Amino acid sequence: MNRIAVYSSKGGVGKTATAVNLSYASAYRGKRTLLCDMDPQGAASYYYRIPIEGKFNKKRFLKGKCEQFIQKTAYPNLDLLPAHFSFRNLDIALDEKGNKELSSIFSTLKDQYEVLIFDCPPNMTLLSENLIMTADQVVMPIIPTTLSIRALAQSVHFFEKIGAKRKKLRAFFSMVERRKTMHTDTVRNYRKKKVFFKTLIPYLADVEKMGITREPVAVSRPVSPAAIAYDRLWMEVWKRRA
Ligand SMILES: Nc1ncnc2c1ncn2[C@@H]1O[C@H](COP(=O)(O)OP(=O)(O)O)[C@@H](O)[C@H]1O
Ligand SMILES: [Mg+2]
Repeated sequence: MNRIAVYSSKGGVGKTATAVNLSYASAYRGKRTLLCDMDPQGAASYYYRIPIEGKFNKKRFLKGKCEQFIQKTAYPNLDLLPAHFSFRNLDIALDEKGNKELSSIFSTLKDQYEVLIFDCPPNMTLLSENLIMTADQVVMPIIPTTLSIRALAQSVHFFEKIGAKRKKLRAFFSMVERRKTMHTDTVRNYRKKKVFFKTLIPYLADVEKMGITREPVAVSRPVSPAAIAYDRLWMEVWKRRA
């Protein structure tokens, strides 16, 4: 089972859009996939039209039987573990060794799924730390600006601090606007670095519209360059799996 965390300490960089579209690409390409919505705001669950069940709470989740909370999406091979508002306190429930707890919760799913994708909340809290430790690969969207490159450097430092393997961190440029000089310059300067995937995700209204269509972009607009880019990104992620 391959566990992929879509993570950044920053909000609004395209994590949820990425988790939603990568999980779709993974399932579409035949992998039994579970998207785990770990952000209490529940945006990934919303995009897949999965209601957040009242009964689901962190206590039950931490007891290890998360299987009962999993819901089917409208697409073959793709299930979703919805977020719950109580996840906002998951941090308090987990301690520094929480990654072992999370790892064992998720490893109960190893016979059902080949791919788990975590849509992480934006911060550097214990929940993020534990998800990073649990993941085999951490995929980080970077908007091509100098500040975001700084955030990448800070994340490398964060990885070192919590003892996570630096090797599992990968980045890609997200929401790229070719008409912005800062974007094209940053992409040119950093794209060849090993930590970066080659695929760029363009800034496109098709992705923004997912809030209205509530479908992965490959479903609402299969010909969209964004749909093609997310599929390519998925292939790179899969190829570089641990
Ligand atoms: N490639 C993209 N092109 C255009 N808009 C995007 C793109 N990726 C994300 N967005 C939009 O930007 C906002 C933040 O994206 P989101 O995926 O929710 O970020 P995060 O999960 O990091 O907070 C959302 O309104 C989303 O629709
Ligand atoms: Mg999000």
